[in-house]
Amino acid sequence: MKRAQFALAALLALPLGAGCSDLIDDSVANQDSFALGDALAGTNSTLFAEARAAFTSTETVADGLGPIFNERSCGQCHNNTATGGAGQQIERRYGTLTNGVFNGLGATGGSLRQLFGIGGFTPTPGQNCQSGTDNTNPTGATIFAGRLTTPTFGLGLVELIADGTIRNIAAAQPASIRGVALNKTVQLSSGGFSRGTTRVARFGWKAVHSSLADFAGDAYLNEMGITTTSCVGGQVIRDFATENRANRPGTNAVINGCPDDQIPGVDDDFAAEEGNCAGGLTETQDDVELFAEFMRDLAPPTRGIDNSGGRGLTEFNREGCNGCHVTTTFNVSKNNRNFAFNPFSDFLVHDMGTLGDGIGNDGDSVATTRRMRTAPLWGLRFRNLKLHDGRTSSVTSAIQAHDGQGAAARNAFNALTAGQQSDVVNFVRSM
Ligand code: HEC
Ligand code: HEC
Repeated sequence: MKRAQFALAALLALPLGAGCSDLIDDSVANQDSFALGDALAGTNSTLFAEARAAFTSTETVADGLGPIFNERSCGQCHNNTATGGAGQQIERRYGTLTNGVFNGLGATGGSLRQLFGIGGFTPTPGQNCQSGTDNTNPTGATIFAGRLTTPTFGLGLVELIADGTIRNIAAAQPASIRGVALNKTVQLSSGGFSRGTTRVARFGWKAVHSSLADFAGDAYLNEMGITTTSCVGGQVIRDFATENRANRPGTNAVINGCPDDQIPGVDDDFAAEEGNCAGGLTETQDDVELFAEFMRDLAPPTRGIDNSGGRGLTEFNREGCNGCHVTTTFNVSKNNRNFAFNPFSDFLVHDMGTLGDGIGNDGDSVATTRRMRTAPLWGLRFRNLKLHDGRTSSVTSAIQAHDGQGAAARNAFNALTAGQQSDVVNFVRSM
């Protein structure tokens, strides 16, 4: 656990820009001078530097790391090309089917497996405790999936896309490829979004969160083992306050005399932290707010050179790739500016047939577990590994793995001449 040490609320209460009269037009195209990892135009550079430092800061056991975890900082995974980028780490998920529906085997610590543990520790002299680690082959698991680290560039713009825009895309899609807009209740009040409101989920390979603060709180807990509490209107929010335990359900309990962490007094000191919520305070824990702030102000990738001479886009549209990887230009206002951007995603989830990873929430039907979010293709040229489990570095193989609602586009791609296929691939590589 980490205590909230100072309030960023005042500094972060920057206007979203909606309703401002004299907005500056700042399309991604005229941000060409920006390198990957730079901030959006109009960002407070002091705050951005502080937020980036938090994102790359390596946590130790004394900070609350563990007892089980996947890495020691956000930036250690999200680091390709620039801080905030995609990464080489592939997380492990597992589960099984019980009576035909998904079971994430929560009693064994699933569905996310944490790969490391803090190891042996002595909370009091002479007391030998062990964090343990999650088993490589958890009891009962029959479904295994990898999840590649995705980039966070431009996600502050994605976060601001209106729900209606995403729903309208779904409504306009032909039934054969129509995606699903997943609703998600906002957990942390941050960035202008309020706990308890419902928004369209858009982040992660399976669209699990609608806000970057929620994703940050989730990642801090589940990737790094750092629990947090936040406040909303004086109420303590404990959504991200329960430690993962090796091969067990999450709990903060003392087990066999051993607490969950080296410094139980700090780690489980809810009383001190919850005391911070007095007086009707609304405040997201400081690190979580900084992580969200960093990602909110990361500029999106700019477009690269299209070696297909423009032919790739024609094929991309003709094969129906644009049905899901929409060529729509999205517009949002942020930092008192208008931003126009092309993520090449509808942010909907689609039944991808055999490409689906088979992971879901407890009780999900098999069809539901096959749903994957249309991967945003912007910035793909900066990434080597492709698809949710990073199974290939080849754009062609990634396309050929499409199935389910993506099968028709895949077949259309396969039917192209070699020259036309390379036009499509070159166009994708310009993103
Ligand atoms: C162990 C590696 C690892 C660490 C550490 C990590 N992440 Fe991630 N991150 C991932 C992976 C893997 C995914 C894709 C997860 C998924 O969708 O299932 C991801 C996805 C994300 C996304 C969603 C991006 C999108 O495509 O919509 C955000 C936001 C994010 N991480 C933020 C963070 C923050 C903030 C931290 C630090 C608190 C963090 N991550 C720490 C591996 C990591
Ligand atoms: C029915 C919707 C749909 C259609 C149509 C579609 N895709 Fe996809 N695409 C997806 C989804 C969903 C993913 C993520 C799949 C996964 O990894 O689980 C994806 C992933 C990709 C990736 C890998 C991206 C990454 O981040 O690794 C590429 C490249 C890609 N698509 C290109 C294409 C091309 C080219 C076409 C047309 C031939 C196409 N797609 C048609 C939904 C679609």
